[in-house]
Amino acid sequence: MTKKQGLKRGLTHYGDNEFAAYLRKSFARSMGISNELLDKPIVGIAMTPSGFNSCHRGMPELVDAVSRGVLAAGALPREFPTISLGEVFLSPTSMVYRNLMAMDTEEMVSAQPMDAVVMIGGCDKTVPAQLMGAASANIPTIQLVTGPMSTGRHRGERLGACTDCRRFWGKYRANEIDEAEIAAIEGKLSTTSGTCGVMGTASTMACIAETLGMSLPDSAAIPAVHSERLVAAEETGRAIVQLINKPILPSEIITEKSVENAFRALMAISGSTNAIVHLTAVAGRLGIKVSPTRLNEISDETPVLVNLKPVGEGYMEDFFAAGGLRAVLHEIKHLLHLDTINVVGKTLAEVLEEPMDWVDRNYIKSFDNPITDVGGLISVKGNIAPDGAIFKRAAASPELFEVEGRAVVFEDLEDLANRVDDPDLDVEANDILVLKNAGPVAAGMPEAGYLPIPKKLARSGVKDMVRISDARMSGTAFGTIILHVSPEAGIGGPLAAVESGDRIRFSVKNKSIDLLLDAETIATRLKHKPRIKTPARGYKSLYSKTVLQAPDGCDFDFLVHAEPDV
Ligand code: FES
Repeated sequence: MTKKQGLKRGLTHYGDNEFAAYLRKSFARSMGISNELLDKPIVGIAMTPSGFNSCHRGMPELVDAVSRGVLAAGALPREFPTISLGEVFLSPTSMVYRNLMAMDTEEMVSAQPMDAVVMIGGCDKTVPAQLMGAASANIPTIQLVTGPMSTGRHRGERLGACTDCRRFWGKYRANEIDEAEIAAIEGKLSTTSGTCGVMGTASTMACIAETLGMSLPDSAAIPAVHSERLVAAEETGRAIVQLINKPILPSEIITEKSVENAFRALMAISGSTNAIVHLTAVAGRLGIKVSPTRLNEISDETPVLVNLKPVGEGYMEDFFAAGGLRAVLHEIKHLLHLDTINVVGKTLAEVLEEPMDWVDRNYIKSFDNPITDVGGLISVKGNIAPDGAIFKRAAASPELFEVEGRAVVFEDLEDLANRVDDPDLDVEANDILVLKNAGPVAAGMPEAGYLPIPKKLARSGVKDMVRISDARMSGTAFGTIILHVSPEAGIGGPLAAVESGDRIRFSVKNKSIDLLLDAETIATRLKHKPRIKTPARGYKSLYSKTVLQAPDGCDFDFLVHAEPDV
């Protein structure tokens, strides 16, 4: 029996399939589409425009361009909405809603009659949510990103969201610029459609989607407003129709090898710490486990090659002009699994067959002349974080790599907000700031790990301190910051035991983070710490009962890979 295509797929259950097909067709005709087109295979276009998502402002043009490609290749495009997550418009944090968007995406792809789907996302959580949904729905899928913003200008200086937002905010807090200037800069940080214009989480996830093989080659870095982005969208439309004729499923593309390639690329581009959580969640949908030991091996073998903010100088527009992700993959080609396959049916070896004719070495270094010899991110462990924590060494201060210091503890986000700038706060430059109860269950794991330098220290010139938390950090941020401490304090992780005045030792060389107390004292203290209460109803209740810890990608426990029922 041939598999049903197009409108005949997945009929509504009325107990009479012929009637269901008849009824569907008659309603579809009300959309004013010819019978000839209605009988074609269907490509869904998961679109995510929203008045609360500035990064997806260019979505309508992209949907048009994908539709054009689909029609030209002989299928019927049907766009449909899913929820959209605009990073800075969501409270308490977009991370709480990533899994909701992944569920929305998976279910709408599975429930509606489409033979293949193009997913268009961009802002931080949208691409991981779509990749998670794609992995679980497992029909032919291509990921398209909205692309990065272009830079703005302030007094002759290029600015881009959002490393420069943080840099100038730091200057404002340190009294180096006044209120009038910070207000003027506000209008110059995000000046075009598209995602943050540095190697933040959105750009990192775009590079990861392409390295996995889920996006067209060379599509990750094209600026949002560039004509080539629309051409890439049209090509995506054509390519997805080929995938209907010759299916390659997400489960064939996202494999142990392609996930490992994506981690390699993550290290070489010195991408966002968030990508570790997201890629772990995507892999987890297909039963692929990510080991911290392997992550560290990959990091130690893979140099940082990309000179972009927040760790370097350039912006995504420079990365695109310099050669983009292809140029990076060429440099680390000998470390990659070249037999992985992408959405156009090519192996990575085939994609990288042609040498680069030119690369701008200001922004993409050669393997032999890297920015640093080792990768940007490592996993650290110790009695504060028995299940691990993440450290972005590429964005940190090397003089703080081997330190022992006194802990200055904030019990939760509210305590931090209330006390960090208190002139009476007992804090010195070589102390270690600790934030508790900002993990997945306690607080939805917001990007609060970039604890502000207490104002009184910032004003005396302190630029960086060691900071530890169970929170995340924006991919656009920088500093000596240990994140994703697991298990989190709110569920009884040892981070909860740290008190102001304790001593903490941090070592990049040993990849360790330890509270200098004996196990018995830590256990006694933990016995008296209150646990986080679960919200009584609604999505928040589901979230806090089922969200996994960072080493498992913060997915819901019931969404990770499960063997099909027999
Ligand atoms: Fe959307 Fe940064 S706020 S990518």
